Amino acid sequence: MATIATEAPATRRDFLLIATGALGAVGTAALIWPFVASLAPDAEVIAAGAPVDVDLEPIQLGQIVKVFWRGKLIFVRHRTPEEIKSAEDVDISTLRDPQTDAARVKPGHAPFLIVYGNCTHLGCVPLGHEGAYKGWFCPCHGSVFDTSGRIRQGPAPLNLPVPPYTFVSDTKIRIGEESRGGAPAHA
Ligand code: FES
Repeated sequence: MATIATEAPATRRDFLLIATGALGAVGTAALIWPFVASLAPDAEVIAAGAPVDVDLEPIQLGQIVKVFWRGKLIFVRHRTPEEIKSAEDVDISTLRDPQTDAARVKPGHAPFLIVYGNCTHLGCVPLGHEGAYKGWFCPCHGSVFDTSGRIRQGPAPLNLPVPPYTFVSDTKIRIGEESRGGAPAHA
């Protein structure tokens, strides 16, 4: 069972998904259009921390989808080739929180970046496709993140963390379950 909503105006490429499900079960997120007003995640799911499946197929190139897992906001971003290249081309020795882009995505799945959706400064929700690097811009105090979710400017001390997740197929991820042998960045 899933209750999903879109958040931003149609001119923006952001969606809000709220996944709900039975206690202990895997929730499934899917897109509903148009806007649905109720955005409160299911309390049982927050308490249970059940994994959430997200179908990647409806997420268009360049789009950012928002999912709640364990009551925390998560961005699922379908990056364009240009966004991937700009993330990969960075000299990580210049970064405040040095991480390669490859360390922040799953092998063979560079188009999909999955990160927690709260600024690592004081927790505001950054705006997608904004800021000097067109990653995210946090309007609260001006932190700027690149298309890998790495902190590039402003007061935030760390990159947007990568939650535990795994690809269960080429077009579906399960948030809350880590790939074998993998470890989430800043989990
Ligand atoms: S909360 Fe994002 S810059 Fe302060």
